[in-house]
Amino acid sequence: MVETIPKEKKTGYEKLYDQIKIIADKARHDILDTLEHNSLGASNIDNEYGAHTLLKLSYLNYYLGIFTRIAISHKKKGGFSKVVFIDAFGGSGLVGIKNTKYTVLGSSLLAALNGGFDKIISFEVDKERANILSKRLNLILPEKCQVINGDVNEEIGRIVDNEITSKTIVLFFVDPEGMEPQFSKLRKLIDKTQYVDILMNYTWGVYRLQGRIEKNFSMPDINRMQSFLDGYKLGGTPDEALLEMFETKFGKPFGDNVPIKSKGEKTEYSMVLRIRRTQGGTKFIDPMKEFGKIIGSYSGEDCNNILRTIKGDQQSIL
Ligand SMILES: C[S@@+](CC[C@H](N)C(=O)[O-])C[C@H]1O[C@@H](n2cnc3c(N)ncnc32)[C@H](O)[C@@H]1O
Repeated sequence: MVETIPKEKKTGYEKLYDQIKIIADKARHDILDTLEHNSLGASNIDNEYGAHTLLKLSYLNYYLGIFTRIAISHKKKGGFSKVVFIDAFGGSGLVGIKNTKYTVLGSSLLAALNGGFDKIISFEVDKERANILSKRLNLILPEKCQVINGDVNEEIGRIVDNEITSKTIVLFFVDPEGMEPQFSKLRKLIDKTQYVDILMNYTWGVYRLQGRIEKNFSMPDINRMQSFLDGYKLGGTPDEALLEMFETKFGKPFGDNVPIKSKGEKTEYSMVLRIRRTQGGTKFIDPMKEFGKIIGSYSGEDCNNILRTIKGDQQSIL
């Protein structure tokens, strides 16, 4: 009889390491080389962020796997017609990691490499970034990608009308730098299809603004908050308005909230996941919650070390 050695469960560190390996393009694809050979490699047009951005992208990439696996299986049974990734704040496709020489894959490219989407739709307001994102996506996943150069708040309605039906299932990634989203407008997507999961970067700038409002009532500050969250009321908190919006207006009663830390316990923003109620229940979100705890227990500094190890500039600390 052949004895099988039971596989040991991966540690949290190993799970994060695996994700960063994909994001650093050291897992399987050699996308960075391909882009470089086509004069589409790292450039100063790319956004540059601290290494904690790897925690955000790991959280996204982990969910891309869970989401597409379930969506494709439902599609095969005739439940959905199309599986779509909408990147509301798309960037250029690559992200430079601050204070390092490294560039990694951004959200739209990670979604393209996942292989499970019928279409990737990315919005980017900056012309140069939108242009290079379009070229990079079309090199990697021809004919399945669309980049809209414009303000997502203004453009989403038109795109939803043309591309989304009540049978489209969407992963909606909302990754602004600050409070640029206007949820009263982004809601047009949810009005068209209820099958939308939302993964959002929730800026801590919201708390700074709330602090100012509590200290010093000012109409421009309140207008700013209400442009972001139209349900925000004076005397309430933005967190309450966000939760109320996701639960009632968006119909996304379940989810998780994960802090993204740069150094020690310093939180830069949080990632908010909100999902629909499904016939099969919400058990599928359990691994995501487990992974969220891992993400919340590491910082940008840890990611920096992992990235250097992956790139071969530091001995493994595994
Ligand atoms: C945090 S970055 C996105 C990074 C990207 N998700 C990635 O992983 O590579 C935010 C991007 O949103 C763009 N942006 C800002 N306001 C926007 C708007 N109203 N509509 C569309 N894009 C916008 C910025 O130019 C910037 O490139």
